[in-house]
Amino acid sequence: MSSYKEQVDKSKLPTHVAIIMDGNGRWAKERGYNRIFGHQNGVTAVRQVTEAAAEIGIKYLTLYAFSTENWERPQSEVDALMELLIETIEKETSTLNKNNVRLLAIGDLKRLPVKLEEKLLRCIDSTSSNTGLSLVLALSYSARWEILNAVKNMAKEIESTHITADSITEENFSNYLTTKTIPDPDLLIRTSGELRISNFLLWQLAYSELYFTKTHWPEFSKECFYEALCNFQQRERRFGK
Ligand code: FPP
Repeated sequence: MSSYKEQVDKSKLPTHVAIIMDGNGRWAKERGYNRIFGHQNGVTAVRQVTEAAAEIGIKYLTLYAFSTENWERPQSEVDALMELLIETIEKETSTLNKNNVRLLAIGDLKRLPVKLEEKLLRCIDSTSSNTGLSLVLALSYSARWEILNAVKNMAKEIESTHITADSITEENFSNYLTTKTIPDPDLLIRTSGELRISNFLLWQLAYSELYFTKTHWPEFSKECFYEALCNFQQRERRFGK
């Protein structure tokens, strides 16, 4: 049996794959460790999947790294996740550059600790001219926050622009979303068995194919990613037509 990587049709790749990385806590608990250990091993999976996406030629990979709702977790877990993000971004910037990967971020970045925001902006700036994979981190992100934020900004600008209520279209509304320069996902992957969207990219996922796997995120390997691509390629997409 050939590997899933060999079975992927490179002429029919999704342009944008988005992932809800779920199950770090359960993975750790099942092994008798604390949740932080699960997140640390989650970083290994992030590295693997980013490499897999870049190797096969995916243009956009969006990872749901921290949701607006995640701020409600115990302070010690929030602090550990922030520290892990700071460390990882710092450590991986040179690898991103070596592999021609551009980093982008979506979400309410002003809520992040100053140190993380600084590291993030520095990495985004340092990788901005890379032309391979765009790796999009969703941080302090939720779709309802994003949509409300877009409506507020559109309302504020309505007096100074030519937009009227009747001239609002999908296109000009999309320009107020944090994803305005990013195409909609073709494929959404969620790990760890939960069958939900959980406030992620609600506008952008309108026509995306959904793929759910029971595998916990720390165990989601390159082959798991390629398996999801093969599954996507067997589907017929009609965009409601
Ligand atoms: C979900 O597992 C995972 C998260 C909320 C955090 C994801 C973060 C990482 C993988 C680490 C850092 C990421 C990057 C991009 C460097 P969970 O805690 O909800 O697991 P559970 O549902 O089993 O409790």
